[in-house]
Amino acid sequence: MTAVTPPAAATPTDQPLSLRLREGTRPEHEAAESSGFVEKLMGGELGIAAYADLAAQQWAIYGALEQASAAIRQDDQGATLVFDELTRTPEIEKDLTFLVGADWAERVTIHPATQRYVARLHEVGGSLPAYAAHAYTRYLGDLSGGQIIKRMMERHYGLSVDGLAFYTFTEIPRSKPFKDVYRERLDALRLTPEQLAGTVAEAKLAFRLNSDLFADLGAAHC
Ligand code: HEM
Repeated sequence: MTAVTPPAAATPTDQPLSLRLREGTRPEHEAAESSGFVEKLMGGELGIAAYADLAAQQWAIYGALEQASAAIRQDDQGATLVFDELTRTPEIEKDLTFLVGADWAERVTIHPATQRYVARLHEVGGSLPAYAAHAYTRYLGDLSGGQIIKRMMERHYGLSVDGLAFYTFTEIPRSKPFKDVYRERLDALRLTPEQLAGTVAEAKLAFRLNSDLFADLGAAHC
């Protein structure tokens, strides 16, 4: 009798990049989501100053990420991942003006973990696999958990429109179809197996950099 061999289970490398990213970063996502700073901020236990500090860190990070976007869009494949409607730097600047004041640029502090995150973006952001990893981690996060954070800021800290521009994508009324298109763009990238693995590894690092940033914010505010 011929032994029946079960079909080989799909190896992770057979999966589309978007799925590999989601599954590959699951533990790091859980760690970032459950950091003390995030839980306390979302639970209404901190003050507006903590939220403003987070906005300042995001200003530094998005400045570096969106500088990389401007460079990567010169490349045909890179251009497929750059969407003007995602641009966050001007929105964060509006939030900081409201939260801190017109002189916010002189008053905010960029924490050491943020400086490391920014340095990493400057170091690798010009390479498509690394750019894809960092842009995925931030923008799909902002369109997902970011929307939950927005609701919690409204509920606990009395913010409505002012101060929440970062989480408000005026040109993306429904995040689900947009995220589906973004995942299709990731899946269509022509990357070698090594580059695909590198993208997942860089996304894991991007999540860890976010967790390190929450640790710095926790030390300052919790
Ligand atoms: C307050 C903390 C957070 C909450 C409550 C949260 C919640 C969520 C939820 C519910 C989803 C699934 C959305 C969907 O099915 O479309 C999601 C996805 C995602 N989140 Fe978070 N998140 C948090 C923090 C973060 C952080 C800190 C990052 C990274 C900087 C992040 C990055 C992502 C990414 C990249 C996705 C897309 C996963 C995928 O479908 O590939 N999240 N988050």
